[in-house]
Amino acid sequence: MNIIVLCGGLSSERDVSITSGKVAAQALRRKGHKAVLVDLFFGYTLPYEKAEDIFDAEYFDDLGGIGEDVPDLDALRSMRGGRGRIGANVVEVCAAADIVFLALHGEDGEDGKVQAMFDLYDIRYTGTGTLGSSVAMNKEVAKKLFAQSGILTPMGITVNKYDEAYANVGFPCVVKPRSGGSSVGTSVVDREEDYAAALELGFKYEDNLIVEQYVKGRECDVGVICGKALPVIEICPKSGWFDYTNKYQSGMTDEYCPADIPEETAKVLQEAAVKVFDALLLEVYARMDFIVDAEGKAWCLEANTLPGLTPASLMPKEAAAAGIPYDDFCEFIVTESLKKYN
Ligand SMILES: Nc1ncnc2c1ncn2[C@@H]1O[C@H](COP(=O)(O)OP(=O)(O)O)[C@@H](O)[C@H]1O
Ligand SMILES: [Mg+2]
Repeated sequence: MNIIVLCGGLSSERDVSITSGKVAAQALRRKGHKAVLVDLFFGYTLPYEKAEDIFDAEYFDDLGGIGEDVPDLDALRSMRGGRGRIGANVVEVCAAADIVFLALHGEDGEDGKVQAMFDLYDIRYTGTGTLGSSVAMNKEVAKKLFAQSGILTPMGITVNKYDEAYANVGFPCVVKPRSGGSSVGTSVVDREEDYAAALELGFKYEDNLIVEQYVKGRECDVGVICGKALPVIEICPKSGWFDYTNKYQSGMTDEYCPADIPEETAKVLQEAAVKVFDALLLEVYARMDFIVDAEGKAWCLEANTLPGLTPASLMPKEAAAAGIPYDDFCEFIVTESLKKYN
């Protein structure tokens, strides 16, 4: 198949997405597909005559890697110049593909807008559709649907940058951007004295923040693929919590899959993950983040509709534990996504 692997974009998770895209494209190529890597923001700028020809052109994936810091989006904007967040020729080359493999993370990709654009152009893409993507991306809306579907989620409120006074939910709490990801702009706040600084940091990224009760417990994630839960993975940062550095710098976090938890707890988590998948209208694959408290209760933090896809990422590790090698996992996403269009 001719596949565009779309990555990058103007998102704080841009670097992570490029890494996901590179390895997914290589996996799809090993599977015999003509996969081409394209940056959503910078576009496809190599010369071509007909868009179909790019699938036979020499493979190029030198788009960078994950730095220690969150990418500087203003610098990227001025580097490219021009208006809009869709790069040159993106729509044209995507329309020439059999399917677009979405390796995007964060805004412009995970939030449903790219999906909506592709829907209007009749361009086929992997994973969840427009509505499910935007619902899952907005932690306020997602939490309302969790509550309605009987899915446990920590008590939280939304705080707007222009509120006259900022409410809180008591301490410790977690302050996080409403539509963010990769823990960017997120703080765990133990004491009231540190609350203002946490809000200030969050507001650098978004005007709306979720302030949530901190749940003490073990961090466990569960991937769901085609409605079925994968084995649970437990995440144990060697120090602190699961922030940007602990997520993406190697050796900072221990991960155990299948998690060393009672069978009963694993079942609770897997059932909750499938419930979330259905409640948020998710499709093909997604990964749900949970904290399991001392009583074995599973508190859902969020659903990731385009989770990290490097072989070191959580969901590919869960797939591997279920006996699905990385290359097969990537191809499975493609074949299952095509069924949406039958
Ligand atoms: N209510 C909470 N209680 C405890 N830890 C939390 C809570 N909310 C977030 N965290 C921590 O912050 C990390 C990021 O939060 P999450 O809601 O998954 O947002 P995202 O991954 O989209 O940035 C989690 O992996 C977890 O370590
Ligand atoms: Mg998360």
